[in-house]
Amino acid sequence: MRLDKLLADAGCGSRSEVKNYIRKGLVKVNDTVLKSPESQVTEDDHILYNGTTVIYERFVYYMLNKPAGVITATKDRAERTVLDLLTGENLKDVAPVGRLDKDTEGLLLLTNDGALAHRLLSPSHHVAKKYLVYLEHPVSGEEADRIKNGLPIGAGEVSGSAQFAQADDSDPCHVYLTITEGKFHEVKRIFEAVQNHVLFLKRISMGSLLLDEKLPTGAYRRLTAEEIKALQESSYASK
Ligand code: URA
Repeated sequence: MRLDKLLADAGCGSRSEVKNYIRKGLVKVNDTVLKSPESQVTEDDHILYNGTTVIYERFVYYMLNKPAGVITATKDRAERTVLDLLTGENLKDVAPVGRLDKDTEGLLLLTNDGALAHRLLSPSHHVAKKYLVYLEHPVSGEEADRIKNGLPIGAGEVSGSAQFAQADDSDPCHVYLTITEGKFHEVKRIFEAVQNHVLFLKRISMGSLLLDEKLPTGAYRRLTAEEIKALQESSYASK
């Protein structure tokens, strides 16, 4: 790719800023000063910008433990977005994979790997998303069966089959729900469809990716190489 694009993608500055740095002779590729922004380079070249090695990663993957009160968007005039929580990162082309409601907490993946995001979100890939849910009322056995089989959730839509389980033997309002689709407000609408109400919602997994229990609410970290590999595999799994 072009040298100026690589430097801009690596977070060294805007495209016009890095063009200037290159023309000023501040950039070396494999120990040679290159003054042409159009020079072609690869990820394997050793690039120094102002004496510092440039780390170029084509794709970046972050796990955020989303807090309530933040919207799942890349930018907004009035509200704080999930991207605002990834301070000091090069977020070029990084976007959240799917959407959690403003009041929902938990696992949110953010990446610039559009192909992976597409597979994880595509209904045909049936990627499982598991939620911890606190409900207003306990769910009866008959209601649990309807939820598991899929039921009308309004607006002419029917939820897909789901897994339902108690999360806590001592509290029947504390449950897990695993769905493989991502209809708008799907979890809340599933419970509304059985005259219940979600009081608290937290996503705890998506495909193979589990929310890191050590990650405080509002914090984020990079995915490990193992997590990325497993997620790539699980995104193909059930097509
Ligand atoms: N389902 C919902 O209702 N809300 C979310 O944030 C995610 C899934």
